Amino acid sequence: MKRLSFLLFVCAVAWNVSAQNLVPQPVSISRGEGTMMLDTYPRIESSSVELAPLARYLGDFLTGGRVDLTLDPVLELPVEGYRLKVTREGAHITGKDYNGVWNGIQTFLQLLPAPPVITIEDWPLMPYRGVMLDVARTFVPKEQVMRIIDNLARQKINKFHWHLTDNEGWRIEIKSYPLLTQVGAFRGGDSPIWAIYGEWDKKYGGFYTQDDIRQVVDFAAVRGVEIIPEIDLPGHSRAAALSYPEILCSYTPNLSASAGYDTRDVWCISREENYQMLDIIIGEIASLFPSPYIHIGGDEVNTHQWAKDPNCEGLTQAYFTNRLVAIAEKHGKTAAVWNEAAASGQIPKSTLVFGWENVTAARKAAANGYPTVICPGEYFYFDMRQSDSEPGHNWAGVVTTEKVYSFDPERINNIKENRTSSAAEEIYGVEATFFSELLLENETPSPASSAPASHSFVGIEAPLFTSVVMEHGLDFIDYQLFPRVCALAEIGWTPASRRSWADFERRMGLVDDAGKPADTTHPASGTHLARLAEMGIKYRGSKELMRREPEGKLLDVTPTTSITSQRAPIEGDWYLWTFEQPLICREIDVKTGRDHLQRTGFPKGRVEISYDGKNFTKIAELNDLKATVRPEKPVRAIRVVCESHGNGESSTQVQPLRVR
Ligand code: ACM
Repeated sequence: MKRLSFLLFVCAVAWNVSAQNLVPQPVSISRGEGTMMLDTYPRIESSSVELAPLARYLGDFLTGGRVDLTLDPVLELPVEGYRLKVTREGAHITGKDYNGVWNGIQTFLQLLPAPPVITIEDWPLMPYRGVMLDVARTFVPKEQVMRIIDNLARQKINKFHWHLTDNEGWRIEIKSYPLLTQVGAFRGGDSPIWAIYGEWDKKYGGFYTQDDIRQVVDFAAVRGVEIIPEIDLPGHSRAAALSYPEILCSYTPNLSASAGYDTRDVWCISREENYQMLDIIIGEIASLFPSPYIHIGGDEVNTHQWAKDPNCEGLTQAYFTNRLVAIAEKHGKTAAVWNEAAASGQIPKSTLVFGWENVTAARKAAANGYPTVICPGEYFYFDMRQSDSEPGHNWAGVVTTEKVYSFDPERINNIKENRTSSAAEEIYGVEATFFSELLLENETPSPASSAPASHSFVGIEAPLFTSVVMEHGLDFIDYQLFPRVCALAEIGWTPASRRSWADFERRMGLVDDAGKPADTTHPASGTHLARLAEMGIKYRGSKELMRREPEGKLLDVTPTTSITSQRAPIEGDWYLWTFEQPLICREIDVKTGRDHLQRTGFPKGRVEISYDGKNFTKIAELNDLKATVRPEKPVRAIRVVCESHGNGESSTQVQPLRVR
């Protein structure tokens, strides 16, 4: 009998939840009769001054009705939990803490425009539900960053990991080292940082002043979002190195492969002045962000640069990380790192580790006793493409909304590893062996690894690197985030026993009530997609899907079959395709660089065609690294000729021709 009534309860919950299409699905709901009256003027009362920003926030949405906001630290719910009670007379939102009230408000807003009489008790499964935004590869102005934070907070995402520096740019003002932004925040033109990803001629970029940072931090705090700043060290630091070259190891680099461009990107590990400089930089950053954490990077360090400097002999990444952990601590912060920095197990166990390379890396960090954020590429990297024919990275495969949803954080130890190459292998090419060795070394199970302590997993995060945003525009960030982040928000919030993909898909409006794919360009009213549309979010599916052209008939066009040369192109370099039989076709696409990572292309160049196999004539200029040509006659040969010096890299790639 007990069992039967439990089942009935669960069915009722499922029905009620579905009726409101709430995302993420709340933990418990009971619904009454009728709806809340909204015909009076809006009245919002709050129990404490601390809630004043939330009352103001809610006021912007409410056209009528009464809402009481209460902070109740002894409420018998977990942290960030809330009780939302809607009666005919009004709504009462009681939060365990500030974030609890925020979360309750968000659920209440999803009940508009006609809130039913309902009681919801709700709290998150995991304390850390984050998104990382890289603003180094593509600069994202502060207004856009705040808009993104607002949109994420409305999904009950509570951490914003701000990737502020990388090879392509240093985006945060450091008053003691002004060149970091005066030089390091701009690419192209007369900047020593070469333009990449297609914008070759003009100087472009940007950075946040310390006032901008404070403004964004305050904006996020109102929404219950903690910002964790990241300064990626000691690798991924080319922008810093081109601003202050003395931070590099002292050896004369061979720049012939990169046409004279210094691609070195690692802080010298033995130079004592570097630690003094980083102490000052971290001190300034620490004072800007209230988060207890500062993320110091640690991913994909090209240690070959240390190996070339005799002063660095014997010093390992663990040495560098421990020096930085101590600096962070001096400034009142706990260090956070990418998983490679903790692989040795030789850094303090308080360090927050981000397991990104794959699920195994996250499991290992937790097994070694580190509080761990789960962010493996194959489930959570939102820069991965969403189908084979859409733009995006692919080193961790296709990451669909369903794939994100399929990850059950409560069962991470049972997830079958779908091992892909790491980004490091793809990006560094020649150094792939080094990274493979690192992975193999990590394969040796440590005694604890068979049963990692599940409490070590503090939550989940979706990183979004913006390497391909440049060529698509900032709306592409919406397209990469939504609706995948709604899936992330739900798996981080709702226990697996209370959710299912089929129900999520329906609540979102990805399918109709019969389970058939819906027209997402016109989302059904009351679905979560309709809410996103109302918020002005350009989610994937809000308009015609971005598709890449149909693949050619002649050659295999997978990116791995690109032709690569191990030096930058110089003026006059060419690639030639000759055809044994004259090729009859309508169009040929010639593309340099990789589709998803264009920096290895020809910044400037022309395409020449030959109809007799001997004489070539120019038929097109490369535009954005590529050209489509329309031959007049059967073709005997095609040649693409470089007209610029270097491309900012030490390699060149040309893709197979696509022929139609
Ligand atoms: C990373 O994707 N290199 C952390």
